[in-house]
Amino acid sequence: MTSRAKTAWYCTACGNEASKWMGRCPVCGEWNTFKEAPATDGKGSGKRPSRTLVGLAESNPVPLKDISVERDSRILIGNKEVERILGGGIVPGSMILLGGEPGIGKSTLALQIPLRSKGLRTLYVSGEESPRQIKLRSMRLLRPGKDDSEEGCTILGETVVENIIRCARELHPDLLVVDSIQTVYSESIDSAASSVTQVRECAAALLRFAKESGIPVILIGHITKDGAIAGPKVLEHIVDVVLQFEGDTRHSHRILRSIKNRFGSTAEIAIFEMTGSGLREVENPSEILTPMHQESLSGVAVGSMVDGSRPFLIEIQALVSTAAYGMPQRSATGYDVRRLNMLLAVLEKRAGFKLSAKDVFLNVAGGMRVGDTACDLAVVTSILSSNFDLPVSTGTCFAAEVGLSGEIRPVGRIEARISEAARLGYRSIYISSYNLSGDMRRNIPSTGIEVVEIQDIGALCRRLFKD
Ligand code: TYD
Ligand code: MG
Repeated sequence: MTSRAKTAWYCTACGNEASKWMGRCPVCGEWNTFKEAPATDGKGSGKRPSRTLVGLAESNPVPLKDISVERDSRILIGNKEVERILGGGIVPGSMILLGGEPGIGKSTLALQIPLRSKGLRTLYVSGEESPRQIKLRSMRLLRPGKDDSEEGCTILGETVVENIIRCARELHPDLLVVDSIQTVYSESIDSAASSVTQVRECAAALLRFAKESGIPVILIGHITKDGAIAGPKVLEHIVDVVLQFEGDTRHSHRILRSIKNRFGSTAEIAIFEMTGSGLREVENPSEILTPMHQESLSGVAVGSMVDGSRPFLIEIQALVSTAAYGMPQRSATGYDVRRLNMLLAVLEKRAGFKLSAKDVFLNVAGGMRVGDTACDLAVVTSILSSNFDLPVSTGTCFAAEVGLSGEIRPVGRIEARISEAARLGYRSIYISSYNLSGDMRRNIPSTGIEVVEIQDIGALCRRLFKD
């Protein structure tokens, strides 16, 4: 009789390993996610990566100054925005995890790379779509009159990781794309595809291949509804770069965010627009997100938000109306309702607005999500503007936080925000007077835009709505 193989329990949401079943994962807090799977034997990619895994041949100590590296020669992929996020292109031998919800555009983005970069030999492995489906997609993506070409792109419909690696070895492409890691499995592991063990072991095998061969690998990974890439913690540890594709599939804008990057900054985002012929890079997000209206509209204010390292301007729209039922409604799209409630409470207490009898609806234009508190002033202004039915003149924008006592607080990166507003032709920008106190005044660029200093909400009202 053979002895029972050693098993362990894994959380399918975060990859946490435990020796027994648990109802709730103590790491990610998810309920009922523990599944039994063969335990890692320490040879493969258990908690401690083996030497071959991290690409080390021997382990003698070497003085740092004696370690030689070739200047990193980055691989260009014909997509300026993705290259920028990666820190100037793909590093040879690196592994990139591209995560996102189903339908967000991961496969589209990955397939655009070989089509738009001439001379880059790519092996695109798909376990999700048939080669015919990929061909149909690529026909949509080829832009007439541009330098796009199908040359150099090879499609492989395969899900067994050993076969994928064998094929990649033979072909020796410049880039390997695996769509998606959840469909790939190894026959030597006795566990279902997309289980934590399979995902982890296959990713580790592909990583070993990348390090050995110097061929960079892009792994596409699906994200579960709570925003975690299935088996994410395991993958995030081993890959070099984690890019996350976000956005509302009902809107056309998508944000690509770098969450981890061993070869560049993580404070980077890129914005794309999904069009009929694939994803288009949006180099000037502010221009789309804040269309300059011909005439001023009430309830609209433009705020400055910084996401990643870039400032951009975004239109905030508010509608304030008399509450039809006893309980006033508060609703926000793209904005935190709790923060909206807080700002409304501040308006009520510090500026005497009777908003408790009003319904307030807030919308951030373009399907974007605002998390930057520098948009507070724009939110407050749009609410006041709708409440009084008095428009804010076009060409005005706002960049400040609102404090609990109604004071207008300074925000970071003010120089970049002012420059961006000036570049887009805005005539004035409202900021906190504290942003101009003492040494900080020196940071204000002289761009010709009028910088209006505001101290509290009362001053804002007097300036904007009461002549
Ligand atoms: P896809 O790349 O298949 O998403 P993922 O791989 O992340 O699941 O993108 C799917 C969506 O994109 C689908 O709803 C159709 C849309 N789309 C376009 O709007 N234009 C296009 O040119 C392409 C290829 C897809
Ligand atoms: Mg896909």
